[in-house]
Amino acid sequence: MKFIIQDNKEQIAYTAADLVEDAVRQHPTGILGLATGSSPVGTYKELIRRHRKEGLDFSRITTINLDEYVGLDEFHEQSYRHFMNHNLFDHLNINKKNTYVPRGDALNPEEEARHYEELIRRLEPARIQVLGIGVNGHIGFNEPAEDFTVPTHVVTLTRDTIESNARFFDSPMDVPKQAITMGVGGILRAQRILLIATGEGKQQAVKALEDGRILPSNPSTILKVHPDVIVLCDRAAAALLDERTVRQAE
Ligand code: GLP
Repeated sequence: MKFIIQDNKEQIAYTAADLVEDAVRQHPTGILGLATGSSPVGTYKELIRRHRKEGLDFSRITTINLDEYVGLDEFHEQSYRHFMNHNLFDHLNINKKNTYVPRGDALNPEEEARHYEELIRRLEPARIQVLGIGVNGHIGFNEPAEDFTVPTHVVTLTRDTIESNARFFDSPMDVPKQAITMGVGGILRAQRILLIATGEGKQQAVKALEDGRILPSNPSTILKVHPDVIVLCDRAAAALLDERTVRQAE
């Protein structure tokens, strides 16, 4: 796992966009694994800028997202499909038919999870998987649990996650209680993983990535088994890291 520490969100967005751009240029018909949340928003803005100003071409790219709230359709402003359209896809020359997000409005979420897993297996591995991290260490919506769940599945969100995501809804009551998420198997399948973490709230989660143990109570620690993970964080999120890690990461 490689840590990169940067001074501000602009630098983070720029570095992350460089890594995504590399994947797009090297594999113009490849798969990108994408994430929602505030962490990748700057990266998406920078990718849109590069598309507009520098002709970065997404016309043959396919994307696959991590997760979606159960019960929200694509028109709901807090659905992850809406987020992706609004923050990225609507501004690129990407064919929306080649952008995949689980269907939150599926009548049978379990069946939707199975279909999504089949889709992941059918596609070639993502060249790069962009990831955020929850304050409790969740990746996608793989919540702290007794075991890791490998395939795409329906998950009941933890109180921590509902509280933390309530900022996007009118009240915590409005946050869906369940989500469909790619499991850790789908995430680890990517050739490279780029995890973006900013702000004080992510300190513990980032520290756990540096420490040795892999525990399902902190799902992001499974990333330690992957050979190519880049953790891109700001100084606030990196504050608890060992001095040696920080020196190497600067
Ligand atoms: C949500 C998403 C995660 C995301 C996390 C962190 O719970 N399911 O994929 O990483 O939020 O969000 P943020 O980047 O806004 O801190």
